[in-house]
Amino acid sequence: MSQEIVLNYQLSDGTVRTVDARVGDTVMDTAIENDIDEVVAECGGNLICATCHVYLDEATAALFDEPDEAELEMLEGAAAARREYSRLACQLVISKELNDHTIETPERQ
Ligand code: FES
Repeated sequence: MSQEIVLNYQLSDGTVRTVDARVGDTVMDTAIENDIDEVVAECGGNLICATCHVYLDEATAALFDEPDEAELEMLEGAAAARREYSRLACQLVISKELNDHTIETPERQ
């Protein structure tokens, strides 16, 4: 049985949506399943679109492995301004430590 946590998505207008998420899914999968429209994910998680750009805070970013070269390269092409802890949501696999953390979404992808 898969483990469930809750995850908060903070939209660009400040609204926060709290959703159930499964450990092992990605932050992108969970956004799509829950109609978080600010995560577009055009390429379906294949690391070729950068339309799943999200912002993390420092504590949340520390729960994931560092982005690899391919992800950093794709982030260069992100439509919204990049921040220190910008990531591509399709590369972020949910762990139970992520419970109740907040993922911020940019206003455009
Ligand atoms: S969904 Fe395309 S890079 Fe993440």
